[in-house]
Amino acid sequence: GPKRKVAVLGAAGGIGQPLGLLMKLSPLVTDLALFDIAGTPGVACDLSHVNTQAKVEGFAGDGELGKALTGCDLVIIPAGVPRKPGMTRDDLFKINAGIVKNLCKAIAEHCPKALVNIISNPVNSTVPIAAEVFKQAGTYDKAKLFGVTTLDVVRARTFYAAKKGIPVEGVDLPVVGGHAGITILPLFSQATPKMDMTEKEIDTLTKRTQDGGTEVVQAKAGKGSATLSMAYAGALFAEACLKGLNGQKNVIECSYVESTITDIPFFSSKVRLGPKGIAEVLGLGKLTAYEKKALDAMAKELKASIRNGIEFVKK
Ligand code: APR
Repeated sequence: GPKRKVAVLGAAGGIGQPLGLLMKLSPLVTDLALFDIAGTPGVACDLSHVNTQAKVEGFAGDGELGKALTGCDLVIIPAGVPRKPGMTRDDLFKINAGIVKNLCKAIAEHCPKALVNIISNPVNSTVPIAAEVFKQAGTYDKAKLFGVTTLDVVRARTFYAAKKGIPVEGVDLPVVGGHAGITILPLFSQATPKMDMTEKEIDTLTKRTQDGGTEVVQAKAGKGSATLSMAYAGALFAEACLKGLNGQKNVIECSYVESTITDIPFFSSKVRLGPKGIAEVLGLGKLTAYEKKALDAMAKELKASIRNGIEFVKK
């Protein structure tokens, strides 16, 4: 396959390390740059002993960020502070907003044509932050900026399969909206294989998907938030982006992107990935009354999170 350089920013962290491993195992990656404020030389040395093709290099500290980014096709950002018990995703806002802003300034300078996958929460705001930074730098291409919502899809598939007693491998369903609480909306009416569900079942599975992050925060009891499942989901989405770049047809994943399919300026829905990033943002399809109501209910919160992000960069 073609040469593809991927950078992970925040590569020494709870998400970053397993994500780095999964990227090292990917047949689509030829060069892997691991960046963090510290610790990346060790992580890179460790991973470099794995006998797969990707050449791994570690970069530590702001002085090495430019080198990590130069030549990248795809930059994945799990840098930030994770959610602690009692903290909402929005409590993270101030710290992570500043981190994402600075990293995106460097991307605009060193690899303005790269696809950017943002994992740092709150994704509902950090993606608009990245868009605003790129706009100000004059490098913005809305086809190349993605918020990673794949963990919501992964969770909804898992919970649906478990509830229905079917093998999870064959299950697919879209999750739309945003990436926090009530802004997360799994479309169980569009699940394959299709199963009859009562409204109560749908409501229970919807809430479990929306609270999936909190379920992990509580289970980890003060030691962090989802890392392994997030790394898995991040790798799944990154590989979809790389397949699109490499010209594979019909690569479709849900992602939080700038879109006009609703009146909410950033919105997660199915996107078709191609050689230049997003080839097409797919519509929502036929929604049930339950799903329409949930969409109406999330609009205010999602719009406010988007505004917060944009204002953070403008002020
Ligand atoms: N540049 C690069 N890396 C940074 C920066 C920065 N400016 N600031 C922090 N980091 C690194 C930290 O050094 C750490 O290694 O980001 C990493 C974050 O790792 P953890 O603290 O273990 O957090 P993690 O659980 O991986 O979550 C990171 O992803 O899902 C989101 O909500 C989560 O926003 C959080 C982020």
